[in-house]
Amino acid sequence: MDEMQRPIGVFDSGVGGISVLRELVALMPNENFIFYGDSKNAPYGTKTLEEVRKLTLADAEYLRSRNVKALVVACNTATSAAIHILREKYQKEIPVIGIEPALKPAVSVKENSRVLVMATPMTLREKKFHNLMQKFQDQAEIISLPCPGLVEFVERGELSGEALEHFLKNLFAPYQERKVDAVVLGCTHYPLVRKTIQKVLGSGVAVFDGGAGTARETLHKLKEYSLVSDAVTPGTVQFYNSTEDQAMIELSKYLLEQRKM
Ligand code: SIN
Repeated sequence: MDEMQRPIGVFDSGVGGISVLRELVALMPNENFIFYGDSKNAPYGTKTLEEVRKLTLADAEYLRSRNVKALVVACNTATSAAIHILREKYQKEIPVIGIEPALKPAVSVKENSRVLVMATPMTLREKKFHNLMQKFQDQAEIISLPCPGLVEFVERGELSGEALEHFLKNLFAPYQERKVDAVVLGCTHYPLVRKTIQKVLGSGVAVFDGGAGTARETLHKLKEYSLVSDAVTPGTVQFYNSTEDQAMIELSKYLLEQRKM
C-alpha cells in the first residue's frame, strides 16, 4: 500500500475518543482511519499508573500491527500516563499525537476567570497536568474536578436523561454559589455528553475540549512526516473494540455520526 494511504490509528480507553475522531474526520475527510476502543478495560482513570501504561502500550501495538501511519492517543488519561513512552518507542517511524485539557481558550474567556477542569483522577494527578496548570495559573483560578463515574455513562450509551442530569447536578453543586466562567472537558468521553453538561451548567458557562486542537496537531505532524494523503475521495473509518461486542461497534458508529452534541 502507498505509504500516504495507510490509515491513521486512533485509540481510547473506550468510545470517548470518538469525540476526537469526529474532529479528525472533519479536518481530514480524505484520510483513512482505524479507531480502537478498549471498552473491556474502561475506565482507565481510576487504575494505577502501571496498569494504564501497560494497557496504553497494548492499544498502540494493536494499531501498529495494522500498519497505521500515525498514532493518535484520543484519551487524556493515557496521554498523561504514557505519551512519553509511546513517543520513545514509535516516534522515529511515525508521529504520535496526544491530547491535553484545553486550558488556553478557557482562561481567555475573561480576565481573572474561574475555570473548572473536569477530568479523571489520574489526569488531574499526573505531572503533565500540573505543568499545564502552572502555565495558566496567573491568568485564572483553575479548579480541578475529578469525575469518577462519568465515563461509564458514555460507555453505556447513556448520553442524556434524568440519571445523568442528577449525577452532573451533584458534581456541580459546590459551584452553584462559587460560579465558574468556563469548564474544560479534560477527558475525551465528556464531549459526547456536552449537551447535558451544558444544560446542567446553564448557557452562561463556556465549555471547551481539546479535540479540534488534537486534530490540527495531527495534520501538522502528518505534514512534517510527509504523510498527508493525496486522495481526492472520502476515506474510510474502521472500528474495533476490545469487547468484541457488535453493540459497541454500533455505538461507535452512532457517536461518530452525531455532530457536536
Ligand atoms: C478513562 O478511561 O477513565 C477516561 C479516558 C480519558 O481520560 O480521556
